[in-house]
Amino acid sequence: MSGEETQCWPKRPARQEALSFSPPDITQAEIDEVADTLRSGWLTTGPKTQQFERDFAAYVGSSCCLGLGSATAGLFLGLKALGIGPGDEVITTPYTFAATVNVILHAGAKPVLVDVKQDDFNIDPELVERAINHRTRAVIPVHFAGHPCDMDRIGDMAEKRGLDVIEDAAHAIGAEYRGKRIGSLSRLTVFSLHAVKNVTTGEGGMAASDDVELMNRLRTLCLHGMDKDAWRRFAPGGRWKYDIVAPGYKCNLTDIQSAIGIHQLRRAEAMLARRREIVAIYRRGLGGLELLRLPPEPSRGRHSWHLFPVVLDFSRLRIDRDGFIEQLADRKIIANVHYQPVHLFSYYRTLGFKPGDFPVAERLSRGEVTLPLYTRMTDGDAEDVIGAVRDIVNTHAK
Ligand SMILES: Cc1ncc(COP(=O)(O)O)c(C=O)c1O
Repeated sequence: MSGEETQCWPKRPARQEALSFSPPDITQAEIDEVADTLRSGWLTTGPKTQQFERDFAAYVGSSCCLGLGSATAGLFLGLKALGIGPGDEVITTPYTFAATVNVILHAGAKPVLVDVKQDDFNIDPELVERAINHRTRAVIPVHFAGHPCDMDRIGDMAEKRGLDVIEDAAHAIGAEYRGKRIGSLSRLTVFSLHAVKNVTTGEGGMAASDDVELMNRLRTLCLHGMDKDAWRRFAPGGRWKYDIVAPGYKCNLTDIQSAIGIHQLRRAEAMLARRREIVAIYRRGLGGLELLRLPPEPSRGRHSWHLFPVVLDFSRLRIDRDGFIEQLADRKIIANVHYQPVHLFSYYRTLGFKPGDFPVAERLSRGEVTLPLYTRMTDGDAEDVIGAVRDIVNTHAK
């Protein structure tokens, strides 16, 4: 006898309804604000976007925010506004959504990928340092799942070597590093407001910075290169005339989207608190499982708990990762995978990347399953997930 107490988990009845992966949390306030916008006569970028940008800047602790059509657009415009292009290299992680790497190619620069750390899935600063050369212009750290990267080391290194840091904070609204909100630390930070994100506008993105000049460049680039947007031209006191000062793009955030965002943001802290409650239930219920590794809490900050990624040891199970996800689906629980490392996608292989290039990312990805985590989940839903995971592990353990 080991002397340890055997923990028993009562079997739960089979679920009747499927548990979604990450539906949005929309209240009457968002619906009313959208209706108000539709009735107002101003649908595109205007007063609601201005308000949302102001509120967002206050929440993340930056002096300036710009609403955009997506985080992808924000990352791309950031590179363009910083003058990064052909001949330049940008260092980032393979353990991310393809958009992080695609934008470097869109800007005409070369993506240089470096492996991640085993514990938190985030870019390894040691490897960033080794990858820097005279062509390196920027680093794009990704706060995977909402776990803040080691920003002290990345920031110090970038400063010493004269590099820009553009944080991909698609997952990280509300995350903090050493008591400071993500959004207040680097030259530029970009958040996603996609439908599955902690704070959503359906689709959308938000760029944050203290560098007003840089943000003015982004603002111009995001709307055709015009020196004034329509609201500034047609609001009382405005003038119709404008100039085109750059061959810009079209990726502004509309007032219909911002109407949703204003109320989402007001509930950001309450929604994060609910996410933390679910995380605590998962920790209690899955903590003792030997074949499963839980995501760590940050040692120097606050997690935004956009995702709950667990890593299973499939060498000790008779099913693989895809089989595990199918078994969860059979129990009416929809899980996901974050991520298939970018370098393994067929397009990226044509650039010379190959399996084995980033062994930590590849190993993590093979074992990773993202469990449902969203604010409207009940405690019972979380218990169902725990019951299903434990059942599958017990049934298929070697
Ligand atoms: C890490 C990461 N970066 C960038 C993006 C792109 O965000 P968006 O869909 O807002 O363009 C995503 C989207 O999921 C993401 O997960």
